[in-house]
Amino acid sequence: MLEVSRLSKKYDSDDPSARLTVLSDFSLCVPTGGFAVLVGPSGCGKTSFFDILVGSASADSGNIAWNGVAVPNLCGLCAYMQQKDLLLPWLPLFENVLLPRRVRGGVSRDDIDEARALFVRLGLKGFEGFLPSSVSGGMRQRCALARTLMMRGECVLLDEPLSALDAITRRSLRELLLLLQSEFGKTVLMITHDVEEAIALADDIYVLGTQPMDIREKIRLSSPKPRSAAQEGFVAMRERIIESLAPAGASR
Ligand SMILES: Nc1ncnc2c1ncn2[C@@H]1O[C@H](COP(=O)(O)OP(=O)(O)OP(=O)(O)O)[C@@H](O)[C@H]1O
Ligand SMILES: [Mg+2]
Repeated sequence: MLEVSRLSKKYDSDDPSARLTVLSDFSLCVPTGGFAVLVGPSGCGKTSFFDILVGSASADSGNIAWNGVAVPNLCGLCAYMQQKDLLLPWLPLFENVLLPRRVRGGVSRDDIDEARALFVRLGLKGFEGFLPSSVSGGMRQRCALARTLMMRGECVLLDEPLSALDAITRRSLRELLLLLQSEFGKTVLMITHDVEEAIALADDIYVLGTQPMDIREKIRLSSPKPRSAAQEGFVAMRERIIESLAPAGASR
């Protein structure tokens, strides 16, 4: 279980107009094996929050606990997939996927077998030797997902993992994200701007407000996944979230 309690973070600057309290006593909890999704306005602090979780930025105060044990951050405990696929352009797809193991001290026979199985599972078999520039955006994203799965850790943070893709490819990759939970047993925390994506995948949706980032609404969804707009209640849920995201006082 991931427990974040009362995280606060201020960006300081000599210029008073550039000072910003991005988080103030922000708390959330993702149960083991759960899939939580954050949706919130651009600039509200979602990536800053992930930066703190992975340890690339520090909070001014607050606590992070993993499975009941306080930790400074989730470095070494979680895999992080960023918005851009960040594949190394000079390495073939297979080597990109093996990279997390290579930087951690070497690649074993088991690592190679694991990577091969992921290529099959993610529909990339036959493309192991291709460079990222020679495959489609959707394939690069699947490769980035495979690489994320090669990072050891029970928790996965996804910062807009599909946003660089066109709508059709994005939709077809949604189900692959569900594999993280259903097949690989990961605890997932994902950021998206796509409200339908959130409803399709989440166990819990956190609708966020801004300055500082706060939770406007937490919505628990329990119907089977993936969910689609054809299902009862989906459209009403989408409208509810969009309304909740609208700036206070905005007319629709
Ligand atoms: N290193 C930094 N120094 C100062 N301000 C920063 C820094 N990083 C982010 N900010 C500011 O903090 C706020 C939140 O940024 P952040 O990137 O966390 O937002 P976000 O919710 O991820 O937005 P988006 O949805 O557009 O990706 C923004 O106003 C941004 O300008
Ligand atoms: Mg961001």
